[in-house]
Amino acid sequence: MTRRTTLADAIDGGAVRLRWYRADDVPAVRAACDDPLTLRYLPALPEPYTDADAVWWVAEGAPAAFAVGGGNFAIADPATDRLVGGIGLSPLQDDEGAVGYWVAPWSRHRGVATAATRALTEHALSAGYGRLQLRTDVTNTASQRVALAAGYVREGVARAATVDRRGRRRDLIVWSRVAGDPPGPTARHLPDLPGGELTDGVVRLRPMRAGDAAEVHPVRASREVVANTVTRRAPSPAETERYCAGAPAAWLADRDVRLTVRDAVTGAFAGKVGLQLEDRSTAQADLDYYLAPACRGRGYATRAVRLLCRWAFTHTAIERLVAGVHVPNLASQRVLERCGFVREGHERGRLPDGAGGRTDLYTYALLRTADPEY
Ligand SMILES: CC(C)(COP(=O)(O)OP(=O)(O)OC[C@H]1O[C@@H](n2cnc3c(N)ncnc32)[C@H](O)[C@@H]1OP(=O)(O)O)[C@@H](O)C(=O)NCCC(=O)NCCS
Repeated sequence: MTRRTTLADAIDGGAVRLRWYRADDVPAVRAACDDPLTLRYLPALPEPYTDADAVWWVAEGAPAAFAVGGGNFAIADPATDRLVGGIGLSPLQDDEGAVGYWVAPWSRHRGVATAATRALTEHALSAGYGRLQLRTDVTNTASQRVALAAGYVREGVARAATVDRRGRRRDLIVWSRVAGDPPGPTARHLPDLPGGELTDGVVRLRPMRAGDAAEVHPVRASREVVANTVTRRAPSPAETERYCAGAPAAWLADRDVRLTVRDAVTGAFAGKVGLQLEDRSTAQADLDYYLAPACRGRGYATRAVRLLCRWAFTHTAIERLVAGVHVPNLASQRVLERCGFVREGHERGRLPDGAGGRTDLYTYALLRTADPEY
């Protein structure tokens, strides 16, 4: 099927206005596109991005898209008509299109990308597009949040789908919004922490991020922590870097909450606590945690697990939290019992022991209704 869509010349997006680029946008386009974050996440842009690149884009590159049923718009502040970003729609096959955007560094964090993406998406779907796609880098949290806020649904990861400026292939998360999708932002089942963190005055739980890898790795790769994992294989430093850098995306995927445990007063790293949502329909999540050896014996693990359980039962639809513990791991069993978990099972030969045999596991669970404290 060949599309016969024509996008409007200007789109009113409330807080933003999408319009054609003009010659007097050139300095702002150059400054915004020569920005390190823009260049990092839009690897097809020339680097450095010069005045000549901006002149070409405004006069030729951007208008060309309209001739084939897509469009490249300047995002303008409706009050001043000054350029604050750029957004485009490239036709793919049939009635599908790909959306991409950037916001000038001086206008970020104000909802510009979200308002522009909503406006262009709504316009394109009402103009005849049936499916719109967005692709975001795994580490581009801001763009993933734009996708969710504009009602896009995460479909999965396209492996090695782009090449960065150092010539390395990188994965991209694929999002789509299709005609008939419910209006509004995409619902999240693992919402953000209220105020960005959880604390009881003694420990502080903070969402894991890329910069945590240097602190996380020595503990995550330590013999004792590895011995209590499923695979019993120590991660490499590069794997821990990916694990930390991928934490925000795993959370936004409604899959996995990863938190660093810190001393509430000093902020010193103490360990990790997290949960994985098994399946939304069963409302069950799996808990895991570990502490650096120097931070054990202070009740930190119990406090961290309790804080996370309370958040899960208060702010998500999770009904049942479960944890599996190796039979000899008495400290971990004690943590769970102190938090109100009940031992429900003894799974014989549940996991490979790393030496050709199998090892037993105790299973514990805590129900939302079990304890008024939660
Ligand atoms: C991605 C980008 C367009 C976002 O523009 P923006 O106008 O700042 O986005 P918004 O203000 O609409 O914010 C959207 C969300 O991202 C969050 N956000 C913004 N910057 C963030 C950051 N550095 N880290 C984490 N979240 C961030 C906002 O809090 C908001 O979240 P919420 O909707 O859950 O409250 C901008 O950062 C940018 O130009 N980046 C470089 C180019 C790029 O990445 N383009 C997209 C390629 S796929």
